[in-house]
Amino acid sequence: MAYSKFEKRFDFTTVTDRTGLDSTKWENIPIPGAKVEEGFSHIPMWVADMDFPTAPSVIAAIQARLAASPAMGYFNLEKTGFHEAIKGWQKRRNGVEIEDNDVISYENSVLGGVSNVIRTYTNEGDPVLLHSPTYIGFTGTVNAAKRKIILSELKQDAEGTYRMDFEDMEKKVVENNIKVAIFCNPHNPTGRVWEKEEIQAFVELMVKHGVHIISDEIWSDFIVGDQPFTPTQSVSELAKQNVAAMYACTKTFNLAGLVGAYSIIYNKETRDACRELAAQTHYNQPNVLSVHALVGAYNEGEEYVEELKKVIKSNQEHAYNVIQTWGGLVKTQKPQGTYVMFLDWTEFCEKRGKTMDEVLNKCVSVGVICQDGRPFHGPCHSRFNFACPHSSVVEAFDRLTKYVINAEW
Ligand SMILES: Cc1ncc(COP(=O)(O)O)c(C=O)c1O
Repeated sequence: MAYSKFEKRFDFTTVTDRTGLDSTKWENIPIPGAKVEEGFSHIPMWVADMDFPTAPSVIAAIQARLAASPAMGYFNLEKTGFHEAIKGWQKRRNGVEIEDNDVISYENSVLGGVSNVIRTYTNEGDPVLLHSPTYIGFTGTVNAAKRKIILSELKQDAEGTYRMDFEDMEKKVVENNIKVAIFCNPHNPTGRVWEKEEIQAFVELMVKHGVHIISDEIWSDFIVGDQPFTPTQSVSELAKQNVAAMYACTKTFNLAGLVGAYSIIYNKETRDACRELAAQTHYNQPNVLSVHALVGAYNEGEEYVEELKKVIKSNQEHAYNVIQTWGGLVKTQKPQGTYVMFLDWTEFCEKRGKTMDEVLNKCVSVGVICQDGRPFHGPCHSRFNFACPHSSVVEAFDRLTKYVINAEW
């Protein structure tokens, strides 16, 4: 199917209030009891979806499938262009050549794929290695599978860059007899894009101790700094054979509500074991419109992604620059990837005698709806989502400066 007849028009500037629709982000405030005061508009900067329309090529692909046939019966994934679209994207964007379609598996969601690998290689009560700060979805998934979370803290170096602690990881892997580790590349919530040498060392350490690696690369299309993205499986043959990689176009093209993801697993034994477990529930079946959306996104969505990244970068830079004017009260790093930023309020809380609950309530009171960092294992932190129009970011950080940082409250 050809999807080239669409207008190449991207809208990254219109502020669209999604209140009253079905949006999780606009219909909820994630801080219990927090309220937006009258006179302030809502600027939701929490759950990781975007306040932008998806790419025109995605809409065109869905429309083309609807126009081709109004029947939505059982369908053949091979005939949709799913594998070719993924192979093309991986080659053009990540330099990865996939020769065999069979290494790609549809996954109902990235977290579903993560859960499936965990359940393939561990039993209830078994430990799973995670880095902290931690994406809350991993915490929920490991807990729901009734496995035990073992955290290895990422340490900030002199420049504030988050680094893995290899000594700590090895100690924990050995002491707990860990058999599965989840790696997030790029890392949510810190925005870290891992260097090739770090990934190599991580893979070697895990494989040395017989640990299966799950590499969640859902954020790989959002590289906003100078550090290039290195697919975890690409660093060595060892990595290729020992890493199950998870991808999706849902984050990149704002399609989380349409659902869909995919795994790349080169090791046949691992792939078969994971597929066998997934088949037991029969829940891991693709949705025809979601698959056509992926084909439209990956075949003709590159220009959209390039424009989008410029907006995200300028939003994060604006926030970073404003934070630098707050006299060191709040600390953060310019992200290398993702569209989130993790803010450390420790100094602010100490100097102003505030608790993190008070900070979060204050931010929300002026309409800046960010996310509590504590469930991400950031004790005095908040996470901000910058996938919104630049004008919203400017307004949000003006309000934080005026009402949270520079005011007595
Ligand atoms: C690192 C990471 N993995 C997975 C997900 C969720 O993906 P899915 O909805 O496909 O499970 C997110 C969403 O924010 C994420 O940040």
